[in-house]
Amino acid sequence: MARRVLHISDCHLVAPGETLLQTNTEATLRAVLEQAADEAMQSGCDAIIASGDLAHTPTVPVYERFLSILNDYFSVPMLTLPGNHDVWHAMQQAGMSMDPIVWEDWHLQGLDSHEDDRPRALITEMDRQAVEQGLGRGAARWVLLATHHPLVAIDCPWLDKDRIIGPLELMNWLHDASGQRLRGAVFGHAHQEVEGRVGAWPVFGVPSTCFQFRPRSAKFAVDDNAPGYQWLNLAEDGTVNRAVSRVSL
Ligand SMILES: [Fe+2]
Repeated sequence: MARRVLHISDCHLVAPGETLLQTNTEATLRAVLEQAADEAMQSGCDAIIASGDLAHTPTVPVYERFLSILNDYFSVPMLTLPGNHDVWHAMQQAGMSMDPIVWEDWHLQGLDSHEDDRPRALITEMDRQAVEQGLGRGAARWVLLATHHPLVAIDCPWLDKDRIIGPLELMNWLHDASGQRLRGAVFGHAHQEVEGRVGAWPVFGVPSTCFQFRPRSAKFAVDDNAPGYQWLNLAEDGTVNRAVSRVSL
């Protein structure tokens, strides 16, 4: 059956009461979740992908608060991934998991592209082995990949230098490792809406739940676009469609 997945990313949660780039990142995350929860009442929500940089202050209490905020709005399975600002062992201690979400038709598979506290993407042999293990759990018809780092260049040199190198080799490998089931990929880190292709696969970058980066900017620059998220509509025939939404604050 078709599935509908909420994709959020780059929440950059800090200690309670603190702000980042003049943004109350808890308030923007709550605004995103409130609007998405309203939409889910109408159209449903089967799972959440949270694709990294969930905390900017990567401590266990901040991750526990992240989970508690999510719990205020949703009670569906969640696939969490670490981003460059995250510390994976702290996320694990708070109870987060990179385990795949597997249904009959769709398999949501995360790939760890991060190194703790370093901006560049790094995919190690261990990360690939974890994906192979994940793919062995269940036998859904189609696979959607989720990473923190972009799989395509987005014309922002300061961000592009840290993207995943060799994305076509990676996607071809994953397609083979999954028994030809890969149908597309989603990612975060870009803090802007991205639509691209790697080979024949569609790839979709999601806005941040807090501040946005200016598209096509050579240097770090914050954009005045509103916080956002995306709905992933995963069809029975293996098609991936996405719809970006923004909140008004
Ligand atoms: Fe990031």
